[in-house]
Amino acid sequence: MLDLVLAIDHHLLIFAIFGVLVTELILLRRGMDQTAVAQMGAIDLWYGLLAGLIIIVGFSRAIFAAKGWDYYAHNAFFWAKIGTFAAIGLLSLPPTFAYIRWRRAKVIPTDAQVKGTRLYLWLELGLFALLPIFAAAMARGYGEFG
Ligand code: HEM
Repeated sequence: MLDLVLAIDHHLLIFAIFGVLVTELILLRRGMDQTAVAQMGAIDLWYGLLAGLIIIVGFSRAIFAAKGWDYYAHNAFFWAKIGTFAAIGLLSLPPTFAYIRWRRAKVIPTDAQVKGTRLYLWLELGLFALLPIFAAAMARGYGEFG
């Protein structure tokens, strides 16, 4: 039962964070006003919250759910997934800092700033596509070592 509950939570959280990322890409546009800048900050808070929950639920699955930690600790696709998720987390920092800076300074971003920040979001989205691939492989025992 715990395995099922964690699996359901894991999938719902993943859909939610994907939605938040896509929403940021849609809202971050040239000519955005102060209200839109404040909105980006609020949406980005959800991004951080969901990422934290995914880490908690993800590691709970790896440690407490059906297969046990030993299965994942010796699986290259599991570590590829963790590494990719960490890289996405790092890529999300510059946009977060940018939203905070723009809001505090009460400025609207220049076209170049919008373009640069959108690049980070696209890179995050590109890496995100790898996660279900790694997940499917690790769940089926590919990439076992040791
Ligand atoms: C720290 C982050 C994460 C950890 C520790 C983690 C861990 C896990 C674990 C333990 C499973 C169970 C696999 C099995 O049935 O043997 C799983 C499944 C899955 N994870 Fe994650 N996960 C994380 C983040 C993500 C993210 C961000 C995605 C986004 C796509 C994702 C997508 C999936 C999918 C699609 C499955 C189902 C795989 C399948 O049954 O075919 N995970 N994850």
